[in-house]
Parts: sequence; structure tokens; C-alpha cells
Amino acid sequence: MYAGKLRPIGSRKRQHDHVTQGNKIKMSFLNLQNRTSIVTGATGGIGRAICEELAKAGSDIALFDIADEKMEQFARKLTGEFGISTRVYKLDVRRSADLRSRAWSVVDEFGGIDHLINAHGVQFLSPFAEFPEDKWTFIHDVNLMGVFLASKAVWPHMVKRKRGRIVNVASVHGIVASELKSAYIASKHGVVGLTRATALEGAEHGITVNAVCPGAVLTDLVRQQGPQHAKR
Ligand SMILES: NC(=O)c1ccc[n+]([C@@H]2O[C@H](COP(=O)([O-])OP(=O)(O)OC[C@H]3O[C@@H](n4cnc5c(N)ncnc54)[C@H](O)[C@@H]3O)[C@@H](O)[C@H]2O)c1
Repeated sequence: MYAGKLRPIGSRKRQHDHVTQGNKIKMSFLNLQNRTSIVTGATGGIGRAICEELAKAGSDIALFDIADEKMEQFARKLTGEFGISTRVYKLDVRRSADLRSRAWSVVDEFGGIDHLINAHGVQFLSPFAEFPEDKWTFIHDVNLMGVFLASKAVWPHMVKRKRGRIVNVASVHGIVASELKSAYIASKHGVVGLTRATALEGAEHGITVNAVCPGAVLTDLVRQQGPQHAKR
């Protein structure tokens, strides 16, 4: 059990935050109270886990996802369990105007945008020689263009406040390759490159941009590849 001796890295001001629910104590090494996070792909496997960790640390959350059936219910769960404010925004990350207007709504409703976590994504498997061109475009539009557009939508708000944190969920496939995933791999290499480019340009505005490159996590994105490919 946590004995209160560890100090979180990075900030002397950070406290160990905890929310008590019944006999369970939910702890976080971060204190993100009074912060607002936008999470894209918020109802996906990884997006949900990110939302739960942010909520545990006290951040309010704007949930962005194209699939809204489960979003309201999940947002209510987060609010009930962690006492944070949540709001759901159904949108497609390929639509620039929608992202911009939703970013303004988040600023109006929450008072600002502190964090953007790009956790949306799609996958399609095919041998390279037969890769359907429409699927190639679709994957790049969602995985890469979606990160570009979502980051661009929050950027002026972060620049204005001279601070912001953007985290892009890339993939191990942003660094290495495996068979049948050429579009996904190219898009994720693009996300890593975009992360580097925006990190350089964000520095002078107090905006940090980082990518995480997870290996396989058993989510819908992996399940839909079928058991033989999900294993890879
Ligand atoms: N699962 C893995 O093994 C793994 C490994 C490395 C990286 N990733 C990456 O992590 C991220 C999350 O993946 P996941 O495994 O949770 O997948 P998932 O399928 O569970 O979740 C993806 C989410 O993105 C949303 N989404 C898809 N298209 C969208 C669009 N156009 N606009 C808005 N939202 C959209 C979906 O509705 C879904 O909620 C993706 O970027 C994925 O590439 C996953």
C-alpha cells in the first residue's frame, strides 16, 4: 500500500490525489485537478483506459468519438466514480470544422484546454499488392490527418494560454513494420513524424507534444483483425 513517501517526478506541487468510493481508494500519482483534457477515441479500448487514468488524477474530460452509443454512459460512470466534469462530443476526426467548433465549445464550457490525447484509430489488413486504395486513404485520413486536425483545432487555444500538452497514441508500428499493415504502419510513422514537427514548433509556446508507441493491446481494433493476425 502507498505509504506517502514517494514523490512524483516533475513537480514539487503535485500531490497524491485520491478519490474514495466505498471501501476502494483510487489513487493517482498526478494531480490534474482544475485541468481539462480532450480525449479522441474516448470510448475505444485504449481511450477508455486513458480517460479513467485522467479522471483518477482529477482532470475534467471532453470525450470525442465517432461512436456515441457508449459515450454518455461511460461519461456518467467517470463523473459518478471520480467526481469530475465530463461532456461528450460526437464527431469525426476527419472533419476539421467540427473539431474547431467543438474545441471552442470545450473552451466555453470548461474554461480552457490543457491536454489533448489523440487516441482514435482504425486498422485494415491486406497484402500490399492488393491494398484497396480507398482503404489506404481512409486509414491515413483517420489515423494521421485526424491527429493533424485535432491538434490544429486546439493549438490556438493552447498558444493563447502559453501552455498545453498533446499526446499522440502512435504505435510500435510507428517505428517498426509487420506484414499486411502497410497503410496503418505508414500512417503511424506519419504520426511519429508529425509529433516531432509539432513538438519543435510548440516549444516556444509552452506546448509539449509527445507520442506513445504501444505494442499489442487486446481491443476492438485488434479483435477485428482476426485471431491469426491479432497475435502478431
Ligand atoms: N490495440 C493495440 O494493440 C494498439 C497498439 C498500438 C497503438 N494503438 C493505437 O491506439 C489507439 C486506440 O486504439 P484501440 O486499440 O483503443 O482501438 P479501438 O478500436 O478500441 O478504439 C478506437 C476508437 O477510435 C474511434 N474512432 C475511429 N474512427 C474515428 C473517427 N473518424 N473519428 C473519431 N473517432 C474515431 C472509434 O470509435 C474507437 O472508439 C489507435 O490510435 C491505435 O492505432 C493500438
